Amino acid sequence: MKIALTVNGERREADVWGGESLLFALREQLGLPGSKNACEQGECGSCSVLLDGKLVCSCLVLAAQADGHEVVTVEGVAPEGSLHRVQEAFVAAGAVQCGFCTPGLVMAAVDLLEHTPSPSDDEIREALSGNLCRCTGYQKIFDAVRAAARP
Ligand code: FES
Ligand code: FES
Repeated sequence: MKIALTVNGERREADVWGGESLLFALREQLGLPGSKNACEQGECGSCSVLLDGKLVCSCLVLAAQADGHEVVTVEGVAPEGSLHRVQEAFVAAGAVQCGFCTPGLVMAAVDLLEHTPSPSDDEIREALSGNLCRCTGYQKIFDAVRAAARP
C-alpha cells in the first residue's frame, strides 16, 4: 500500500506492506538510518521518534499507521548542519560511546524538554527510563540532559 506522511518537515511517500514497521520504512525506504533497530520489541528505545509530537518506539508502529501523519526523527531535530542543544550537551558531556542508543536518547530528551523545560532530576530519570544503553552507565547521559535543561 502507498502511504504519504510528513517526515522532518518534508512530504514523503512510500510503498509499504501491511506488516511493515515505521522504523523499517524510515531506515530502508526513506533513507533515514538515524533511528536504530536494536530489539524490535519496544524494549530499548533506540528507535524512538516523534509521531504527531508524541514519543513512540517506531518499531512498534506500523508504517501504515503513520499515513497522513507527521514524524520527526533524530535527523530532523535541528536544522541541517547544526546540532540541537541536547546533541551538543551529549557531545560536551561525553555521553556517547558506541552511539547506538544515542538517537533514541536524544529524542527522549528533546521530547522531555519540549514539554518540561525545567525538569527535576527525577523527571529526567523518568523520561530516560525507556531507553537502554549498554556502554555508558547512564551518568553522563543524565548529566548531558541536565546540562541541556539548565545551561
Ligand atoms: S528497536 Fe524499538 S524499542 Fe528497541
Ligand atoms: S553508547 Fe553504546 S549503547 Fe549507549
